Amino acid sequence: MPRFSLPATLLSGVIALFISTTAPGAEISQGAMLSNSCAACHGTDGNSPGAMPTLNGKSADFIERALKGFRSGERDSTVMGRHASGYSDEEIAQIAEYFAGLK
Ligand code: HEC
Repeated sequence: MPRFSLPATLLSGVIALFISTTAPGAEISQGAMLSNSCAACHGTDGNSPGAMPTLNGKSADFIERALKGFRSGERDSTVMGRHASGYSDEEIAQIAEYFAGLK
């Protein structure tokens, strides 16, 4: 239990934040759900507060190619290779579409 308490707390915070900024009744897409995990490093809605690259405003094509490149190792990375390896092609497309659709 203590081992998982911090990530669980962080995750529920991110989810609560997400839900509170979503219009009532709006459907939460699969891409939005998957993209919650990116907020820890890339900021809420992909607007990075610090050293991580901002994702908001990048095209779906860019994000999809970057994630696949990280996953295959073609694109150098410190953490993104490990992170991207957890997603299928379909999930990567959903994530890319989500970030590209943000205002
Ligand atoms: C643990 C922190 C962390 C998490 C979580 C994370 N990233 Fe990253 N991301 C990075 C870092 C650091 C880089 C710079 C490349 C590297 O060193 O891995 C990066 C780079 C990227 C880039 C390339 C940006 C550019 O302008 O070149 C994309 C796209 C990206 N991340 C997407 C995502 C997506 C989508 C998620 C969620 C599915 C995600 N990241 C989750 C830390 C993270």
